[in-house]
Amino acid sequence: MRLDKFTAHLADSRKEIRKIISDGLISVNGKTVKNAGLAVTDNDIIEFRGERVIYREFIYIMMNKPAGVVSATFDPRQKTVIDLLPKEMKRFEPFPVGRLDIDTEGLLLLTNDGQAAHRLLSPKRKVPKKYIAHIDGVMTEEETERFESGVVLDDGYKTLPAKLCPVQTCEDEAIYEVTISEGKFHQIKRMFAEFGKKVLYLKRVEFASLSLDKSLKNGEFRELSSEETTKLFKIMQ
Ligand code: URA
Repeated sequence: MRLDKFTAHLADSRKEIRKIISDGLISVNGKTVKNAGLAVTDNDIIEFRGERVIYREFIYIMMNKPAGVVSATFDPRQKTVIDLLPKEMKRFEPFPVGRLDIDTEGLLLLTNDGQAAHRLLSPKRKVPKKYIAHIDGVMTEEETERFESGVVLDDGYKTLPAKLCPVQTCEDEAIYEVTISEGKFHQIKRMFAEFGKKVLYLKRVEFASLSLDKSLKNGEFRELSSEETTKLFKIMQ
């Protein structure tokens, strides 16, 4: 691998890392190297200002997605979740693992690990996703049973079994915890629509083995801890 790729995470851009290298701040096996294209391997000892550099390929970010931004890497009109990230994270070229609607808030995983994303999104794995949904109505017991055993959507698709737990109900509105294990387009909104009910607010609070970090305000993000990453990889095995 080229030296500038191996050390890329030390700077905000390729241009900047090349400058760091040409300024003589990187050494390989004890010798200052100014050639950004030098081929290096994990067996070489690469140091930046005397500190060992470990190659880093992947990034895993938990975001509390705010409403008003799209779950995409690029959009010609709307702000995207990637626009919220700083340069040093964007440099890894992360993308959202699945989508939340523009008006949905909550837990969104972003990564540049295509294989992990593919596994987490594979319908075969039935990765659970938990949401808090505020509804303009109250589900009867019979409707709850139907919701949980699978709803036939407007396009004829029957959803997999789901869980619906009331958190708070009043006369004509209710808040539910909804757990689904698939991710069809607008799935939760369409499931409630089959019962003539509208979702007024939707927030994802769990995805796979991850729980939304309550200290993250809307629009905030952080890298996954090593424990979170380990748990996530376990469920992908
Ligand atoms: N279901 C929806 O309807 N919208 C989302 O954003 C996620 C699940």
